[in-house]
Amino acid sequence: MKVAVVGVTGVVGETILNVLDERDIAVDELGAFASRERREPLLWRGRTWPIRTATAEALRGGGFDAVFFASSEDASAQLAEHAVAGGAVVIDNSATFRLADGVPLIVPEVNADAVSDEHRIFPVANCTAIVLCVGIAPIARAAGLRSVRVATYQAVSGAGRAGLDALAAEEKAAFGLDENLESSPFVRQIFRNVIPQVGAIDEFGDSGEEKKVAAETRKMLGLPNLHVAVTAVRVPVRYAHSEAVFIETERDTDPLELGDAIAAAPGVVFHPDGNVTPRDVEGQNLVHVSRLRAEQGPSKRHFQLWVVGDQLRKGAATNAVQIFELLAERGLIGKPKLHAL
Ligand SMILES: NC(=O)c1ccc[n+]([C@@H]2O[C@H](COP(=O)([O-])OP(=O)(O)OC[C@H]3O[C@@H](n4cnc5c(N)ncnc54)[C@H](OP(=O)(O)O)[C@@H]3O)[C@@H](O)[C@H]2O)c1
Repeated sequence: MKVAVVGVTGVVGETILNVLDERDIAVDELGAFASRERREPLLWRGRTWPIRTATAEALRGGGFDAVFFASSEDASAQLAEHAVAGGAVVIDNSATFRLADGVPLIVPEVNADAVSDEHRIFPVANCTAIVLCVGIAPIARAAGLRSVRVATYQAVSGAGRAGLDALAAEEKAAFGLDENLESSPFVRQIFRNVIPQVGAIDEFGDSGEEKKVAAETRKMLGLPNLHVAVTAVRVPVRYAHSEAVFIETERDTDPLELGDAIAAAPGVVFHPDGNVTPRDVEGQNLVHVSRLRAEQGPSKRHFQLWVVGDQLRKGAATNAVQIFELLAERGLIGKPKLHAL
């Protein structure tokens, strides 16, 4: 199998390589791409691979069976079609194709059936939305969902390597070291702070992240009319997103039934007691649900839960590699077809 990663020097690209390795995916040849070539090659699986500039020609003519994009929306918009034209399936971590009609938004534990033969481009949904959906899909199946309200606590690595670097620089500066604080992707200091803005704010006051989480959650769950309200917050945590979730079910139920449904579902660990923090799940592929309880009052349809998942793993790289595995299982890799876009 010939596989390429566009964005191999970034945090998601690096994690994709780790996950391919951990899951023992057979890769005979790796195409390693970034925005520009590097003098130092990449070391992966005991071999060196040149890091090259991602171009239409290299992706179209590279003979790749699968190309993972973990770069930018522009790169995906400009290059994905060339990879498909060259015979590859594209698994794309950017937002470029997520909401396009006829393009499935696959979380294998939730909607693997949405894959069909004609699809060649597979976006990986927003990391916060994936963590949320893995946690609440079992509830949707067990008792239906009428509304979801969520406040997020998002790690700095969600903003890529620049996010990790900004937190590290601010930490060092706070302890008297001379650091460059100019290049932070955040609108305020993140060290010893929380920032209630992830992405640009629109004319209605919603951030880009809040809109993505709402729209992509509806698409992944197959519930186009689901009421979803989101407040997305950046916190000074390095890895893993946490979410305080408030749901209303379609029918009366109780925490016991919902807990059983979550415990029986794939990809998620249910903790009936105690709580789970981002530090507990760093580097893990599974989503964790704790603090499930009924809201106080007469309603038997209002519940709260705490959902945590490593967004570089299940929210990006692991989900991407799981899509690859699903396609391979169904014989859909290395089988050029006209794509759906
Ligand atoms: N971080 C997360 O938690 C997360 C979760 C889900 C989805 N995503 C998405 O995954 C993608 C990668 O995010 P990241 O966090 O890994 O970012 P990152 O750490 O900043 O890495 C970005 C990577 O993309 C490359 N790149 C940028 N522009 C490019 C271009 N025009 N052509 C080819 N390569 C280009 C960079 O190469 P250079 O080193 O040469 O600049 C680098 O390898 C983004 O679309 C992001 O929205 C991120």
